Amino acid sequence: MSSAQDKLKQEAAQAALKFVQPGTVVGVGTGSTVNYFIDALATMKQDIEAAVSSSEASTVRLKQHGIEVIELNNVRDLPVYIDGADEIDKHFHMTKGGGGALTREKIIAAVADKFICIADESKQVGRLGGFPIPVEVIPMARSYVAREIVKLGGDPEWRQGFVTDNGNLILDVHNFDILDPIELERQLNNIVGVVTNGLFAARNADVALIATAQGVQELTL
Ligand code: A5P
Repeated sequence: MSSAQDKLKQEAAQAALKFVQPGTVVGVGTGSTVNYFIDALATMKQDIEAAVSSSEASTVRLKQHGIEVIELNNVRDLPVYIDGADEIDKHFHMTKGGGGALTREKIIAAVADKFICIADESKQVGRLGGFPIPVEVIPMARSYVAREIVKLGGDPEWRQGFVTDNGNLILDVHNFDILDPIELERQLNNIVGVVTNGLFAARNADVALIATAQGVQELTL
């Protein structure tokens, strides 16, 4: 990755700080853009109650900064969830899960009042699907789920050597022609053995902070 792209990720992450509400719990995603957000969040750690984390990796980084990480089950109010994306379209539907943390990400996104997506401009796409759609699968269902995905028109590839934080496997699905992301998200989730998939369409982002060479754009639908 170019350092110019890193700089954009950092700018998008920094712009998300204004959505953090003092005295509340903050939902934290996963990935290289979120790593910059965690570093930025550390500058205001005295102002927040704690964080909930979508991955073991983010938890480690949060704790390294002295930010308390609490269990989602103990949280009643979660005003914001801040996370990156592998792709985002004009409806703020996203592909996520390049880092394999999609299930916990989707759970926290479901709980949060607002999803703030932070990304550099390379993540903006006209149509989702150029980036393969990750599908988290219970290990014994891997071959069955792969065959069902082929029936839906995708080409699944087992992410070999990778185990999710939940002890499951990932199939990365190439070549989907995604005309209706909400419907495909539903169809994938309906396959027995699928835990969840990386289409974030039924629950899309509320705000997109897109970093460009000309500055960070704050986009709302
Ligand atoms: C992690 O599982 C993903 O959903 C990330 O949010 C996504 O892959 C974006 O990651 P980067 O910020 O590293 O591009």
